[in-house]
Amino acid sequence: MNVQQAILQRRSIRKYKDIPVSDEHLAILLEAARLAPTGSNTQTGRFIVVRGDEMRKKVAEVSHDQKWMTRAPLFIVCVSDPTARIPEGLGYVDEESTAFELKQSIRDVAIQAEHIVLQAEELGLGTCWIAWFIQEEIRPVLGIPEDKFVVAVLIVGHPDEAPAARPRMALKDIACDEKWGW
Ligand SMILES: Cc1cc2nc3c(=O)[nH]c(=O)nc-3n(C[C@H](O)[C@H](O)[C@H](O)COP(=O)(O)O)c2cc1C
Repeated sequence: MNVQQAILQRRSIRKYKDIPVSDEHLAILLEAARLAPTGSNTQTGRFIVVRGDEMRKKVAEVSHDQKWMTRAPLFIVCVSDPTARIPEGLGYVDEESTAFELKQSIRDVAIQAEHIVLQAEELGLGTCWIAWFIQEEIRPVLGIPEDKFVVAVLIVGHPDEAPAARPRMALKDIACDEKWGW
């Protein structure tokens, strides 16, 4: 599979077979995150691998109780550590924080996370981004300090559905030539 094929066939998967993700595949996924580009190579992403039933259940509960999430055997919690970018840290951060360094570090982690998603596609694994949670609720469940920001939970597993492509805007409506204008 080439990258274009992975991009074309990827879907958000919400039904999974009861088959674990192998350690070998997990290592390849984490390597995809590790090798992703980040601003000034600051590598702000930290990744918590969650496979236990209890912890997956708790993470699903604080993600607006999206119970279907627990059908996926593997969660990769993608966390931004702003101290990788600004050594003194930003102190407490949450959805209301406006610090530019936090935005930068979230951008970095998003790139790392999507590397995982596309790599998973090549391995025949399904994924879904989850970001419907708030910091105050998800961090304590995972023991994440208050100066880190949870960017996403990627759920990963062997797909048990093959959804049709979801609609996208037309290319002419999202891209223009030379300067802003449609
Ligand atoms: C940042 C982000 C957060 C998302 N959060 C959720 C979520 O909490 N629950 C969910 O079911 N899907 C979630 N999704 C999946 C989107 O709904 C999905 O990507 C979109 O509908 C397009 O479908 P596709 O991924 O199959 O192309 C999220 C996607 C992204 C990129």
